[in-house]
Amino acid sequence: MVGNPTAASSGQYTLGDITINRLGFGAMRVTGEGVWGDPKDPKSARETLGMLRELQIDFVDTADSYGPFVSENLIREVLYPYDGMLIATKGGFLRTGPGDWTIDGKPEYLRQCVLMSLRRLGVERIDLWQLHRIDPDYPREEQFGVIADMQKEGLVRHVGLSEVSVADIEEAQKYFPVVSVQNMYNLVERKSEDVLDYCERNGIGFIPWFPLAAGDLAEGNSPFSQIAKRLQISPSQLALAWMLKRSPVMLPIPGTSNPRHLRENVEAAGVALSDDDFAAIDEQAKVKR
Ligand SMILES: NC(=O)c1ccc[n+]([C@@H]2O[C@H](COP(=O)([O-])OP(=O)(O)OC[C@H]3O[C@@H](n4cnc5c(N)ncnc54)[C@H](OP(=O)(O)O)[C@@H]3O)[C@@H](O)[C@H]2O)c1
Repeated sequence: MVGNPTAASSGQYTLGDITINRLGFGAMRVTGEGVWGDPKDPKSARETLGMLRELQIDFVDTADSYGPFVSENLIREVLYPYDGMLIATKGGFLRTGPGDWTIDGKPEYLRQCVLMSLRRLGVERIDLWQLHRIDPDYPREEQFGVIADMQKEGLVRHVGLSEVSVADIEEAQKYFPVVSVQNMYNLVERKSEDVLDYCERNGIGFIPWFPLAAGDLAEGNSPFSQIAKRLQISPSQLALAWMLKRSPVMLPIPGTSNPRHLRENVEAAGVALSDDDFAAIDEQAKVKR
């Protein structure tokens, strides 16, 4: 591991025209149980967000539905005026209670999502707005059309998609340039390999959600803990270092509301896995998939 790694040690990537350090932060966990309401430990959540700058994390992923609104509000409170940070948010989910997520791609609702995120984040334009899900109940041309309109109006600088296939990306590209795709992906959840390869070929950022399998890959009993021990790194650092090496377009956003975990995760940026270790981890992952 290089001495005192920060997110800058993970290398850089340019999303549209915005260059960020590849290792980012997922802000879904600074909310309550079931991604609902205030975090159990608000002090720790604020402290975690407050450390991002020091650790050179300049890419923060959130969504209006996280809380709802709690995550965006905390980001505004702690990080505004952002100073070179890319705050990426999302819209397109209704929240009806803890753990309840209902897709809503009604064009008027998507416009409301953007307008309200602008207001909460205190910006005139959202640098990266992501459609949380494509709604199967509304025509795609209406959903993509309103997003293209909002981009033309200057409300949104760049657009990303979430949980999509290659065909979805190609369809959306007819309406606006897709600069990022956010799909579930980690060492043991690899159904989006084709999407990742497509993103790499086409210069689209790939943002893996659940990079730590919601914490399972950070546990001492992770299937990779033996290899991690040999490499003298933690299981979470192993999982993140593997992803960073997997592709230059990979932009992991591990989530936490624990300052100690944040620091540990960022140190993954300083882990240089050898090709042999990368392959050994991949082999182990195949056993567990
Ligand atoms: N597009 C989508 O549909 C979608 C869906 C889900 C998530 N996301 C985004 O992806 C981000 C990442 O996903 P995620 O936060 O759900 O899952 P994750 O990053 O895979 O794991 C987060 C969990 O792991 C724990 N953790 C983190 N670092 C740890 C460490 N070093 N040691 C031990 N435990 C650790 C956290 O608990 P502690 O707080 O205790 O550290 C938290 O419970 C989210 O924050 C959100 O921005 C997007």
